[in-house]
Amino acid sequence: MAFNLKNRHLLSLAHHSTEEIEFLVRLAAQLKQAKYSGTEQHMLTGKNIALIFEKASTRTRCSFEVAAHDQGAHVTYLGPSGSHIGHKESMKDTARVLGRMFDGIEYRGFHQSVVEELAEYAGVPVFNGLTDEFHPTQMLADALTMQEHSHKPFHHISFAYVGDGRNNMGRSLLLLGAKLGMDVRIGAPEGLQPDADLVEQCQKWAEESGGQVFVTASAEEAVRDVDFIHTDVWVSMGEPVDSWAERVDTLVPFQINDDLVRATNNPRVKIMHCLPAFHNSETTVGAQIAKTYPQLANGVEITESVFESPACIAFDQAENRMHTIKAVLVSSLA
Ligand code: CP
Repeated sequence: MAFNLKNRHLLSLAHHSTEEIEFLVRLAAQLKQAKYSGTEQHMLTGKNIALIFEKASTRTRCSFEVAAHDQGAHVTYLGPSGSHIGHKESMKDTARVLGRMFDGIEYRGFHQSVVEELAEYAGVPVFNGLTDEFHPTQMLADALTMQEHSHKPFHHISFAYVGDGRNNMGRSLLLLGAKLGMDVRIGAPEGLQPDADLVEQCQKWAEESGGQVFVTASAEEAVRDVDFIHTDVWVSMGEPVDSWAERVDTLVPFQINDDLVRATNNPRVKIMHCLPAFHNSETTVGAQIAKTYPQLANGVEITESVFESPACIAFDQAENRMHTIKAVLVSSLA
């Protein structure tokens, strides 16, 4: 099937075909090999990329910056403060300004509608660096990481996401698995499962791709015989820790701990986390959680023992953010 990714936005992966997603993952693997072997060529010389971050970031920001620099492009960072965005200037007007100066724009923020408005008015490709609904650049990294660690084609890989199934990771992994013909399971409490419309759409994509989509309220059922288990934090950035009580009670059965890993029945299962993770109380927030919820002192969504075990491949996943974001930039802007 013919396709063309030049000047394409990356908003959710919903508008990318299976072949286009597979192409981006293959291109990322090639760019990774070129970087490792010292043969990387600059394909973005003279390009300028704006990076809008209305929320904090370590991996996504650094990935865009390093990927751009590796390819000869320049970046301008617009953080949560210091520009007029959202205060004195609408996203529609910001889009029309930045589109006159930049070749591409990355956006991390709140609602999906904002990144879509930016894409509608910028006149240049827009890349979603995370919204409340979707995290597509993370998906490309996760796909590459699962392929590297399983050595299997996508349609032979099974994985589960356990935790809050309504968040951008749960929703995006469902979409990714369905598009790539994978066996994807979401283990989430009733009330925290992906919305019915998305599940129905993903079931249609899975029928087309030969994949399987399964949503269950049992973490053990979700992870049985899978190759990979994914999770993410249980509350979004900025939510106060003392408001977590109800969420914590509901999600404790979905914590990735030694028992849940054993429930996979797969001694080679790998554990994935998009990071940052609350796996101990060494951070300020981690310490606050441990003080408020002593039962989570050894980890919230993932325990310290699992996070620090050889099964956890979260740092390979983190590295692959850069290689896959580079593939997105090269395919769209070169
Ligand atoms: N996984 C992820 O998006 O990391 P950052 O929040 O550090 O960008």
